[in-house]
Amino acid sequence: MTSWSHGYVNDIEYLPGFYVDQTPGHLQLSCLIKGYEPPLTNDVFTYCELGCGQGTTASIIAAANPQAHVTAIDFNPSHIARAKRIADQSGLNNIEFLELSFDELIDKQSLRDFDIVSLHGVWSWISQNDRDAIVTFLDKGVKAGGLVSISYNAMPGWTSILPFQRMLLEYSRLSIDRSDKRVIGGLDFIDKLQKLGCLTVGDEKFFGRFRSNNKTRSEQDHAVYLAHEYLNENWQPLYHADTVKMLAVAKLNFVASATILDNFSDLQLTPEQMAVTNSLPQGAMRETIKDYFVNRPFRRDIFIRGAQVISDARRDELLGKIGLASLVEPSEAKYIISTPAGEATLPQSQYEPIFNLLAQKPRTLLEIYDNLTSARQEKIPALAEIAGILVGTSQALPLPWGIHENKNYTTKLFNENAIKPALNRESSFVALASPLASSGLNLNAIESVVYHFAAKNYANSEILTESLNFLTQGSNPIMIDGKLVNEPDEITASLKEGVLWAIENRIPLWKTLLMLD
Ligand SMILES: C[S@@+](CC[C@H](N)C(=O)[O-])C[C@H]1O[C@@H](n2cnc3c(N)ncnc32)[C@H](O)[C@@H]1O
Repeated sequence: MTSWSHGYVNDIEYLPGFYVDQTPGHLQLSCLIKGYEPPLTNDVFTYCELGCGQGTTASIIAAANPQAHVTAIDFNPSHIARAKRIADQSGLNNIEFLELSFDELIDKQSLRDFDIVSLHGVWSWISQNDRDAIVTFLDKGVKAGGLVSISYNAMPGWTSILPFQRMLLEYSRLSIDRSDKRVIGGLDFIDKLQKLGCLTVGDEKFFGRFRSNNKTRSEQDHAVYLAHEYLNENWQPLYHADTVKMLAVAKLNFVASATILDNFSDLQLTPEQMAVTNSLPQGAMRETIKDYFVNRPFRRDIFIRGAQVISDARRDELLGKIGLASLVEPSEAKYIISTPAGEATLPQSQYEPIFNLLAQKPRTLLEIYDNLTSARQEKIPALAEIAGILVGTSQALPLPWGIHENKNYTTKLFNENAIKPALNRESSFVALASPLASSGLNLNAIESVVYHFAAKNYANSEILTESLNFLTQGSNPIMIDGKLVNEPDEITASLKEGVLWAIENRIPLWKTLLMLD
């Protein structure tokens, strides 16, 4: 590892990834759920991502928000070069990628006045010096009322994994191979230890989680992920209370979680746990105690520089303007939610009419409320609950600027480019931008191919034929519902089912989200 990387893995590029919780709609909604003034008043904003990797999330935010200006920063030149090339090919002119390390940020006078700064997968993987450099930058770089979103591995949720990570790191230091190979060597070694009865590295089940990839990544991608996750010299899960203390120096106050359901304490804690939590003074201690109860391993904290508590009336006025686009058919709607506090059931009498309204078209929360009132629905959930539950369970996407028809040529070009790696069979990762949601969607391999032919305005019958032709060419075994499918007939039948599902369910959604004409 060369010195410019401060102990961070730099010999292999990180994987592309789109994280919806970093998008403006999710961040605005999280603030409102917790009763704080959100950072943005309209779609003209400045956004900065620190440690942007290949720049996928930042690029999607730029492509989906043509009025915004996005700055994306990473010290790895391979990441920056790739991200710039893709942005240039897509004609994205509202994003800049800067090859800078965090300790170089403070000298950059031009990097000021951001409405939103976000860091995903960075804070607990870097040294304390780099965290301090980020705080110094945030102190100057974030507007009053601006938002900072920071995700990190959290304590005490990682307690049982500390000996495993340490052994992986120590063993990998013995080799001079590339990081992805060293991490696999380390796993093989820990496997041996575990089979010899060394349970401090976790039991078989625990260890199996690290060994097998999650079926959506190739073995190679899984090794890259593991290397970036565990082989950084400064890997250190952090307590929420410590993060709060560090960010206070930049006048940043914790307001909410970007993991939307975490904002509903009654879904996280039992009534008895809640009573203990509420007996503590408000602030970092309450959040920390929740992490103890829930054993939460990952946090997505939202801070505001100068948090402003708002009245219920203002909160509902702002929420009323937010739209929701359904991601599910009413027949597939989930009414039972698994939460740390157990299973929660959404009252069908209250939520079924909402799923039905959204199935017709996207609607603002005010419109939903007015419809339910006109239909004399007896009990109507609060606007924050409707939005929080539907978005938090991935059954709807928030539309931060309501319903509009502003399609965008750059978004179209960006999306066409974004599916190319899948069409060239270089990568199965695809995420596309939606100008209506100011955000994006991850697509699987089948959906990507269907999108490609739908964007050419083919009829559904042609989309089916062309997609199947493409997908069955030289088809390797494929993973379906976690099972490896080998037989050619079985593969074709499964692919056909997937293509038909995407034609029926996804093309209308992409049209609604202005991702297709
Ligand atoms: C785990 S990756 C996350 C990438 C991206 N945010 C994502 O979630 O896909 C962490 C990123 O931080 C960058 N990074 C680490 N230390 C850095 C530093 N001191 N200065 C600038 N970038 C850094 C790495 O190059 C890497 O791209």
